[in-house]
Amino acid sequence: MDKLHILLAASEVVPFAKSGGLADVAGALPKALRALGHDVRVVMPRYYIVDKEKYGLKALKGSLGVPMGSMGEVWAGVYESTLPGSDVPVYFIEHEGFFGRKGLYDEEGKGYEDNDNRFIFFSKAVMQLAKKLHFRPDVIHANDWHTAAIPVLLNTTYAFDPDFKYTGSLLTIHNLQYQGKFYKGAMDVLGVGWEHFNADELEEFDSINLLKGGIVHADAINAVSQKYAQEIRTPEFGCGLDRLIDAKAYKLYGILNGIDYEEWSPAVDTFIPATYDLDELSGKALCKTALQKEFDLPQQNEIPLIGLVGRLVEQKGITLFSAAMEALMKMDIQIVLLGTGEKWAEHFFSECASKYPEKFACYIGYRNDLAHKIEAGSDMFLMPSLFEPCGLNQIYSLRYGTLPIVHATGGLDDTIENYNSADQSGTGFKFYNATPEALIGTVQWAVDTWYHERSAFKQLQHHAMSKRFNWEEAAHGYEDLYRHIIQGRLKSKEHK
Ligand code: ADP
Ligand code: GLC
Repeated sequence: MDKLHILLAASEVVPFAKSGGLADVAGALPKALRALGHDVRVVMPRYYIVDKEKYGLKALKGSLGVPMGSMGEVWAGVYESTLPGSDVPVYFIEHEGFFGRKGLYDEEGKGYEDNDNRFIFFSKAVMQLAKKLHFRPDVIHANDWHTAAIPVLLNTTYAFDPDFKYTGSLLTIHNLQYQGKFYKGAMDVLGVGWEHFNADELEEFDSINLLKGGIVHADAINAVSQKYAQEIRTPEFGCGLDRLIDAKAYKLYGILNGIDYEEWSPAVDTFIPATYDLDELSGKALCKTALQKEFDLPQQNEIPLIGLVGRLVEQKGITLFSAAMEALMKMDIQIVLLGTGEKWAEHFFSECASKYPEKFACYIGYRNDLAHKIEAGSDMFLMPSLFEPCGLNQIYSLRYGTLPIVHATGGLDDTIENYNSADQSGTGFKFYNATPEALIGTVQWAVDTWYHERSAFKQLQHHAMSKRFNWEEAAHGYEDLYRHIIQGRLKSKEHK
């Protein structure tokens, strides 16, 4: 088996900077690929929040010239470190003007106005970095709109560059909703030529759409679950790009994410008050009491506790959940929520906490330790997402024996098996219509199972905790896809 040379570019990578699941993937997949023997390297921006000391960032000699079209050449610094617990190199692109800010993409909910330039700059810096390092990647693996310009650059500006003669590209779509749409003037900065500003490449309604360009130009594209890969070909989930994606179905794949069981496992979790596992669940009851205490809820074991963690945005089904709240509060349950996001939602949930102090509590903010405590201390975990490309929290929940209640969409549908009372099979509870009624009915079903069919509930917990969604398996999927891309590239070069 040949060793592959892969350059993975992402706008966020765990543990350096994270706003969502993309960072988890970009931090874990390279390690799993490395374990398979490949030469994988990661590139990300050096945001202000990436702590140089803590992560031992070392400056590379010299600076990197990045041609920015009408902006001229812009110089970047490069730092190097490794993914913790591995020897996978991580390169950080530093530019005070673009990345020396508080946020990754926005501040106080307002996106930076020069996000087009910031990520075009980053994408070009990735190309220039490969040259500087004399690293000739077999595949550059881009992720989401931030790095979607890379496949375009490979096919245009760098098409005849000997350093990239055999380099293919993969674009992973973690979330189709964010496409990087900007004023068309960004074409001058991208500098690939206005002839590529057309409806079949980078143009959409007279604006530039970077993700669209990436989808067109990448050698292959993949979504982070099989189901989402199919869904994005339809108008309901395609966010305006469904026809394009459907036309590119011949190069569209679905690879389910794995999760990091070294971080997310109740047997080894250092954030939770008591560890536990399949054969010894008593620690879970302690975690529940501690969680009730932390959230100032009555400390009773005989009330089912439902957890929610996530970005408070439309995607996550917060409108469904808020519409269902009054009905949910009539049930004999407790709910805890951790999240930040849209202001209305933050206010709404804070008010609910004052209105139902015995039953509902929330923490508006971002806290990794609390996310772990909720996974461990809850009996069930609610994810009513309208769409969910993969979703990580429901997979964490399985491992913690916290039965997921999910809307059957995307990765939620692919990872959770619905409870079947006939043979007590399943790993959670699913609803198929994105309505408050369906959500309420399914929570009621889960709660009834908890109260009245405790042995079935325990059986489900057992199934859930035995499930594994390993990175190793996902890495094999990517390995196959990289090889497929490389073969395709070689063939197309031979014919030239
Ligand atoms: P998405 O990437 O769409 O936000 P995922 O389920 O893939 O959804 O990943 C979300 C990740 O972010 C999980 O690791 C989750 O625990 C974490 N997370 C989201 N919001 C918070 C928060 N407020 N505090 C702590 N962790 C959070
Ligand atoms: C996105 C999706 C989420 C997925 C994550 C990692 O943020 O919203 O469903 O798990 O990317 O691929």
